[in-house]
Amino acid sequence: MKLIIVKDQNEGGQKGYEVFKAAKDANAKVFGLATGSTPLTTYAAITASDLDFTDATSVNLDEYVGLGEKDSQSYRYFMNENLFSKKPFKTSYLPNGLEEDAEKETKRYDKIIEENPIDLQILGIGKNGHIGFNEPGTAGDSLTHKVHLTESTIKSNARFFENEADVPNYAYSMGIGSIMKSKKILLEAFGESKAEAIKGMIEGPVTEDVPASFLQNHDDVTVIVDEAAASLLK
Ligand code: F6R
Repeated sequence: MKLIIVKDQNEGGQKGYEVFKAAKDANAKVFGLATGSTPLTTYAAITASDLDFTDATSVNLDEYVGLGEKDSQSYRYFMNENLFSKKPFKTSYLPNGLEEDAEKETKRYDKIIEENPIDLQILGIGKNGHIGFNEPGTAGDSLTHKVHLTESTIKSNARFFENEADVPNYAYSMGIGSIMKSKKILLEAFGESKAEAIKGMIEGPVTEDVPASFLQNHDDVTVIVDEAAASLLK
């Protein structure tokens, strides 16, 4: 893993943008995207740039089950707000949170991933080491699946909702196996609350207990962390 330590999330966003730019310059056409607070500065730097994605496809990591695009907490809404409305892509895929038939939806999404091999995947990391919504215990070769979110993830994500009880209990997530097939991976983490997970991901054993540790087995991963998130590294 290539580790880049930055002062803060703003500097990290700029560095993240540079990874996107380098990928675009190398003709990347399919971008795996994430939601949450982590990629926001990278998305802001992308929207402020003259990079053109009108010939590119995006494939997002995950979506809450039960939320549709008009719901302001859905990941589709988040992506429209923070990226797509300002930087249009040719096609943008996310799991459909309103599809109740999990088997049908996960198969549909796996087909999309298969037909659109990801050139660059951006990831955040959960405090418990999750990537996408692949919670501890998820197999390294997993495909898209319906996830029962852990207490820790629900608590962390409650900050985006009015009440903790409003956080959906389930999500559809791209699997670790699909994430690992991306040609390049960029993982960003900012803040002290991510320090434990970053340590486990980089210095710990490869284990389902820390899903991000599977990234040790990928040969092109760039990790951008601020000093706080890097604070427990040797
Ligand atoms: C979001 C996602 C999650 C987040 C992670 C960190 O699409 O897949 O894995 O990247 O939960 O969230 P933030 O960035 O809000 O700290």
